Amino acid sequence: MERVKIKTTTGESEVLCDEKFENIGKYLPDTSVFIITDKNVETHYKKRFPEYPVYSVKPGEKSKTVQVAADICKWLLEMGADRKSFLLGIGGGVVCDIAGFAASVFMRGIDFGFVATSLLAQVDASVGGKNGVNLDGYKNIVGTFNQPKFVLCDANMLKTLPKEEFINGFAEIVKHALIADADMFDYIVKNADEMRSCNKKVLEYLVLKSVKIKAEIVMADEREKNVRRKLNLGHTWGHAIEKVAGISHGKAVSIGLAYAALVSLEKQLLSKKDLDRIVSLLKTLELPISFREYTSEATIIFNAMIKDKKKTDDSIDFVLMKGIGSVVVEKIQINELKNY
Ligand SMILES: NC(=O)c1ccc[n+]([C@@H]2O[C@H](COP(=O)([O-])OP(=O)(O)OC[C@H]3O[C@@H](n4cnc5c(N)ncnc54)[C@H](O)[C@@H]3O)[C@@H](O)[C@H]2O)c1
Ligand SMILES: [Zn+2]
Repeated sequence: MERVKIKTTTGESEVLCDEKFENIGKYLPDTSVFIITDKNVETHYKKRFPEYPVYSVKPGEKSKTVQVAADICKWLLEMGADRKSFLLGIGGGVVCDIAGFAASVFMRGIDFGFVATSLLAQVDASVGGKNGVNLDGYKNIVGTFNQPKFVLCDANMLKTLPKEEFINGFAEIVKHALIADADMFDYIVKNADEMRSCNKKVLEYLVLKSVKIKAEIVMADEREKNVRRKLNLGHTWGHAIEKVAGISHGKAVSIGLAYAALVSLEKQLLSKKDLDRIVSLLKTLELPISFREYTSEATIIFNAMIKDKKKTDDSIDFVLMKGIGSVVVEKIQINELKNY
């Protein structure tokens, strides 16, 4: 087991990589504990949950609303929770977001922690202290910056994850390698088959690497004023596709990474050889590289992208690859982007 510490102005957090779910009791406080999960995770793991009251939401993005958070707060009140109570989210990114948000606003904030059960949650959603919910179709538009006390990642729990969801997590792993670590990229290329067959050692290594990369960036810039924007690699185009084509976040990010690589090639920051390596890796991991598989609405996607919150006047802050393992944020004119 390896602990990755995250210290920011909103608190200290610890990611427990390669820790067993069975050891969760070691990290819980002596006060009253309440569990938030979703119906799928409950079905698979309820028997192994520590013995505390459980509130289970419907699986999926639709549960990430202010209303569901309010329902959780009502339930906490009914159950006699107080300022000293602790909220434990056990689930994927949706459960982590909703539990982190509810804990941050209930009685102006109670302590919370996560057991991250999806690959995406382990490598991304559970790390960094952002807890957001959606409002009227706007993603993560209401939320808080607040660190969980801990995040437990147990690779054994990934075995029950549906294949589609599993592959979604790969896109964020590749993203982390592209942002900060060329050796990690080579490792992924070498071990792509092991990843797809859920090799525990390989996944544990990649979760740890991802967590360390994200932790370092978050500690340098918790509130996304500068370097944290690097984590948006592949997400500007990706978010727009996710919204327009209604595909999963991981697939959309994969298409966004391929697009960012192409723009980086045009800007002469990335070689053709590296672009080919990136595209080939995404394909090997069974991830898509073009939106055309899902929709022909290029203009609608483009318009959705320029409506993105990162837009400033007639340009967009865009994360470009400087070779593999390094990125740079540049303003790109909207007209120029249109050409790509
Ligand atoms: N806060 C952040 O910094 C941050 C970062 C990235 C993503 N996110 C958010 O995370 C969410 C996506 O996360 P996700 O992909 O984990 O989605 P999710 O939580 O919906 O989980 C995906 C599916 O897998 C199921 N599942 C989860 N763990 C399982 C397990 N061990 N066994 C069987 N089934 C399991 C869930 O029930 C769900 O149906 C999005 O809402 C996104 O906005 C947040
Ligand atoms: Zn993402």
